[in-house]
Amino acid sequence: MNVSTTQTPARQHATQFADRLRDAPDRQLAERMGRLIAAVARIVEEERIDREDLRAMIRFLTDVGHASDARRSEWVLLADTLGITSLVETQVTRRPAGTTPNTIAGPFYRMDAPARQDGESISLDGVGELLILTLEVADLDGDPVVGAVIEVWQANAEGLYENQAPDLQPESNLRGIYTSGDDGKAVVRTVRPKGYAIPHDGPVGDLLERLGLSPERPAHLHFRISAPGFQTLTTHLFDGDDPALATDPLFAAHPSLVTRFAPCAAGGFEARHRFILARAQTGQDQS
Ligand SMILES: [Fe+2]
Repeated sequence: MNVSTTQTPARQHATQFADRLRDAPDRQLAERMGRLIAAVARIVEEERIDREDLRAMIRFLTDVGHASDARRSEWVLLADTLGITSLVETQVTRRPAGTTPNTIAGPFYRMDAPARQDGESISLDGVGELLILTLEVADLDGDPVVGAVIEVWQANAEGLYENQAPDLQPESNLRGIYTSGDDGKAVVRTVRPKGYAIPHDGPVGDLLERLGLSPERPAHLHFRISAPGFQTLTTHLFDGDDPALATDPLFAAHPSLVTRFAPCAAGGFEARHRFILARAQTGQDQS
C-alpha cells in the first residue's frame, strides 16, 4: 500500500521536506527545520490558511524588519511579547524548586553601576516616594550567602531609566551595587518605581492591540546577584499593588517575585525580600 495516498497534503509536504534534508551537512539545523515545517504545515491545514493570510503574514514580518534599526530591534520585542524570550530563559536556567526564578535582564542594564554602602540611597535626585528594601540572600538550606554582589537598577517614579533620559536624570541614578553582610542582608534605599510601557508604536504594538494585550509592565526593580559557588541570578522584584501584574507583556512576573511595598512609620514604603540562590554545579557556567 502506498502510505502517501492516505496522508493529507500537509503531512505529505512535511515528509517530502524532511526527505530532502536527509543529506544536509548541518544535521541539527535540518532536524529542527524538518520539525518546524511539519508544525507549520499542520497549522496551515488546521487553520485553512489562504493566500490573503499568507500575504498578511509576510507583510507583518516585513514590517517587523523595517521597524528595526541599530537602536531598536522589533524582532527582539516580538520574541519578548510572545513570551518566547522568557520561556527560553526559564528553560536554560532550570534550577531546583525553592530557588528564586531567573528572568530576562531587559535592555536597561549597565555593568558599570557604582558601588553603594549598606543603606545608601541609589536615588541621586531624590525624586519620588521613599522605598527601603531589606534584601536577604540565602541558599536553599536558608543559610545566609555572605558577600553576595547585588546589582540593582530600576526606573524612576515616572517609569524612565536613567539611560533613557540622560538629560533628565543624573548619571547612574537608581543604579547601584551592594554587598550582602554576614547575615546575608543588604539594605537598599531608593524611590518607589513606576511601571512603564514597552515600545508599542510599531508592528508589534499593532499586534498587541489587535490581540487586546497590554504593553504596560508592572512596576519593578531589577537585580543581578552573584556569589562564588552559586549560579548568578538575574531577576525582578514586582510591586504587588500594581494592577498590571497579571498582564506583564514580558511574562516575567512570577508570583514568587511579587512583594508588597508597605507604608513605613517614617514615611514612604518598605519591603523585605529573600533571594534564594542555586549552587553552581561542577564545571557549570555560573550564568
Ligand atoms: Fe525594567
